[in-house]
Amino acid sequence: MLTTNDYQLLSEVTGALQVPTAVKPPLGRAEKTAGAIAPVHFSLVVPTYNESRNIERIVALLSQRLDAVLPDRYEIVVVDDNSPDGTWQLAQALLVHYPCLRVMRRQEERGLSTAVIRGWQAARGDVLGVIDGDLQHPPEVLEQLLSAIEQGADLALASRNADGGGVSTWSAARRFLSRGAQLLGLVLLPGVLSRVSDPMSGYFLVRRSAIAGRSLHPLGYKILLEVLGRGAIDRITEVGYVFQEREAGESKVTWKQYRDYIRHLVRLRVSLGRLSRFRQALDFPIGRFIRFGFVGLSGLVVDMGLLYLLHGTLGFGLTRSAIVAAELAIINNFVWNDRWTFSDLTQQQQKRHQVIKRFIKFNLICLMGLILKVLLLNVLFNGLHLNPYVANFLAIAAVTLWNFWINLKLSWRVTQVK
Ligand code: GDD
Ligand code: MN
Repeated sequence: MLTTNDYQLLSEVTGALQVPTAVKPPLGRAEKTAGAIAPVHFSLVVPTYNESRNIERIVALLSQRLDAVLPDRYEIVVVDDNSPDGTWQLAQALLVHYPCLRVMRRQEERGLSTAVIRGWQAARGDVLGVIDGDLQHPPEVLEQLLSAIEQGADLALASRNADGGGVSTWSAARRFLSRGAQLLGLVLLPGVLSRVSDPMSGYFLVRRSAIAGRSLHPLGYKILLEVLGRGAIDRITEVGYVFQEREAGESKVTWKQYRDYIRHLVRLRVSLGRLSRFRQALDFPIGRFIRFGFVGLSGLVVDMGLLYLLHGTLGFGLTRSAIVAAELAIINNFVWNDRWTFSDLTQQQQKRHQVIKRFIKFNLICLMGLILKVLLLNVLFNGLHLNPYVANFLAIAAVTLWNFWINLKLSWRVTQVK
């Protein structure tokens, strides 16, 4: 028979933020209950802060799912930062009902990312995972994530941007901020963020061996950046999911998280430094870029030809002609890029709405490129007093690179996902 003393909290982990390679199981309740027990295969960390209204439901849903696929071979590790609403106490009270549950109450440290790592440090599984404690991450996806790992992935990521993924009813402002954050990350750390379609996700599984023994230095919310940046992640699989609305409790996101995110990016950028820049240089898709360049040239011909036809021959106003010519050139470029430059990626993505979506993105990015070009030209010409043609050439070169890179990552979204 178990006594209440057996239902103790995990002790808070301190020291370096490093997941151990070998798992030494502390003699816990599991061992006492059932003599020889199967080793834990999967440890799922649930970080919580003031989730008293969600904790019971999430534990119930997760254990129901996991009992079906990994009976007695998983553990759920709740890591609560001493929530004022007593989440950890509620979780502790659940221990009696869920033999696979473990609970850590942290009093020394705070913060989402460190909570996740501390949970992994206490974990016994060779597959480590994380899921939000507020039910915004649907537990149904877990099975697919687990089987992706079984099939050899080092990282299995639930993504809002993969097939079948999305956000339920986010405001335009939040979508914009989320995309802006992703774009900023792509610029600062292309080699890290471009590997997945949803680098902001906080719902993923990773092989212990991919991160064991490496010091992690996360800041703020985005633990995935650390795992991707510092882990030995070779194969990645994504599974689409829809980010659910929060039904109870409140999000902890404030402006501080955006600031932390930027600081985190910079820190990773600095510490990954040279090595990754070298790797990125080798990774640059040169063939694709050359095709993109040729398509750009064809666009130039279309643009100039139409301008001559509309303005020069038919006598339409210059601005009107230039706008029509530019838009038709963009359409020309899109068609060629979609059919040729990125044909390997678009073959499976030929539904009308998919093509239209790519086209709208391409159009917007080219438009931004145009604005960028005018700004750059002004800086080079008025600021640095370069020869106007040299300045124009440099501006075109820079904007072509911009157009290529951003379209590569957003319109045709080339990630390494298998
Ligand atoms: N232990 C601990 N400590 N948990 C925390 C803390 C903390 O300081 N702050 C937040 N949490 C817990 C919350 O209780 C919740 O379970 C989860 O972390 C996510 O926090 P939310 O405040 O609900 O974040 P969100 O809804 O904006 O989600 C965003 O971040 C997630 C985590 O990275 C989105 O970007 C998600 O995609 C992402 O999964
Ligand atoms: Mn949330």
